[in-house]
Amino acid sequence: MKALLCNSLGLPDALVYDDMPDPVPGPGQVLIEMKAAGVNFPDALVIQGKYQFKPPLPFAPGSELAGVVLALGEGVRNVKVGDRVIASCRYGAFAEKVIAQSAQLIPLPKGISFEVGASFTLAYGTSYHAIKGRAGLKAGETMLVLGAAGGVGLAAIQIGKALGARVIAAASTAEKLAICRDNGADETINYSTEDLRERIKELTGGKGPDVIYDPVGGVYAEPAFRSIAWGGRYLVIGFAGGEIPSLPLNLPLLKGASIVGVFWGEFVTRELPNFIKDLTEMLGLIAQGKLRPYISARYALPQGAQALNDLLNRKVTGKVVITNGDPGEIAQATAAARTTPAPQDSPVGEGPLAGATTPQPADLAAQVGREIGVSCWFTVDQQRIDDFAKTTGDHQWIHVDLERAARESPFGGTVAHGFLTLSLLPASSYDILREHVQATQILNYGLNKVRFVSPVRAGKRVRNRVRILSIEDRGIGRRLLTTENTFEIEGEPKPALVAHALAMLVA
Ligand SMILES: NC(=O)c1ccc[n+]([C@@H]2O[C@H](COP(=O)([O-])OP(=O)(O)OC[C@H]3O[C@@H](n4cnc5c(N)ncnc54)[C@H](OP(=O)(O)O)[C@@H]3O)[C@@H](O)[C@H]2O)c1
Repeated sequence: MKALLCNSLGLPDALVYDDMPDPVPGPGQVLIEMKAAGVNFPDALVIQGKYQFKPPLPFAPGSELAGVVLALGEGVRNVKVGDRVIASCRYGAFAEKVIAQSAQLIPLPKGISFEVGASFTLAYGTSYHAIKGRAGLKAGETMLVLGAAGGVGLAAIQIGKALGARVIAAASTAEKLAICRDNGADETINYSTEDLRERIKELTGGKGPDVIYDPVGGVYAEPAFRSIAWGGRYLVIGFAGGEIPSLPLNLPLLKGASIVGVFWGEFVTRELPNFIKDLTEMLGLIAQGKLRPYISARYALPQGAQALNDLLNRKVTGKVVITNGDPGEIAQATAAARTTPAPQDSPVGEGPLAGATTPQPADLAAQVGREIGVSCWFTVDQQRIDDFAKTTGDHQWIHVDLERAARESPFGGTVAHGFLTLSLLPASSYDILREHVQATQILNYGLNKVRFVSPVRAGKRVRNRVRILSIEDRGIGRRLLTTENTFEIEGEPKPALVAHALAMLVA
């Protein structure tokens, strides 16, 4: 089989996509065909020899995956060959075939894709264990999340909201903070441009957050801890910033606060039944649409080193996954598996894996006239409109001139029509089609008609509902698909726009 191999300790570029012998499951183990594997910060540390355990060389990194059971070791009775499962392992997941302990397997429910199944165990498992189990966050409390746009950070935002808390997200760029808002954050702090302590004080009326979730460490830990509320819980998750901070011990004394360590891997080993209980509860929350893993990028197995490089270079938001096999086949299996509709009023988005509203049989013709998906909510903030104007040269004052728009615009502020039609519409409809349509290529062929119904003012949230209007055979394996795209504006009765978009599907 092929695997992404670490032959010598070092940075991701030293990984080699190469052959290795097929692993054989021992007693209590299963062999799984990996369909998708989640990429996590610890994977980047393990290959550098900087993590809590050091596998013998050569090894494939990767600690979580979803796939199909290929073979059973002696004594395994809880799964059978062909089952779709979610698995965790210490390492080895960035390979075509992976060994896992059968006791740790979770059936991948219908309605949850391989990609989502592969990418939520570690991030959501860590955050759920930390926030619910270790900090005991209660409804109505306030939680501050540092590194909030990262894998465990975005999971923490969604879990905090699902538990009824007010969530403040802190991250390093406006773009990352917009993603945090799209995933449910109530307030945001840009810690590279704003004073962390001052903003926390401002946003909590001087009281401070009841829980602080810290996967970054470094320079943010002490100012964050100094801001914590009386009786607060400070969750030590990790040190993505590179530096392990020290805190004066008078600080927890003065605040009656606790510093709470979180080590999810050890929790899984020592408290397996509690881990299975957490996972089962989280799968229930995913099925209800209360948790929706945000997957920002996918990398084929041979390109897996790039996923780890992007993670180390702070380019990643939410989760990224490594996929194995034909993307069309994975999309088809995903579509066939989707039978659980996501609630339409869910406050958080699943990013590019937008929620389906109806089951998706492979036959597209049978879908004509039906809605096939709805994207996540997306904040159209001024930064995005400005970036779009800069890229396209479309500097109309009604888009970018805040003062003049406040003074003269009939809409009372800047609006975002060009950005919606030329950028957000093709991107969101492509993501929905990619999930629901079987094709090796989906090419954007432009718009047939566009009707603007209501203006979208900067700062508003929108989402795209996609309905199939027609499908025409264009020969040599090509089909022309026309979809109706309706952009809803959060809290408003009328949509922003309705547009007919064309896409060429290549078999
Ligand atoms: N305790 C546990 O059981 C457990 C379990 C899982 C993960 N972790 C730890 O949690 C941390 C985050 O993991 P993750 O998978 O969420 O990673 P991630 O997706 O890369 O997110 C980490 C975030 O940290 C911030 N950051 C600040 N300085 C950074 C730097 N020098 N390099 C990279 N990121 C930096 C980045 O946000 P900004 O750019 O916005 O600052 C980034 O979004 C890691 O240290 C990991 O080992 C611990």
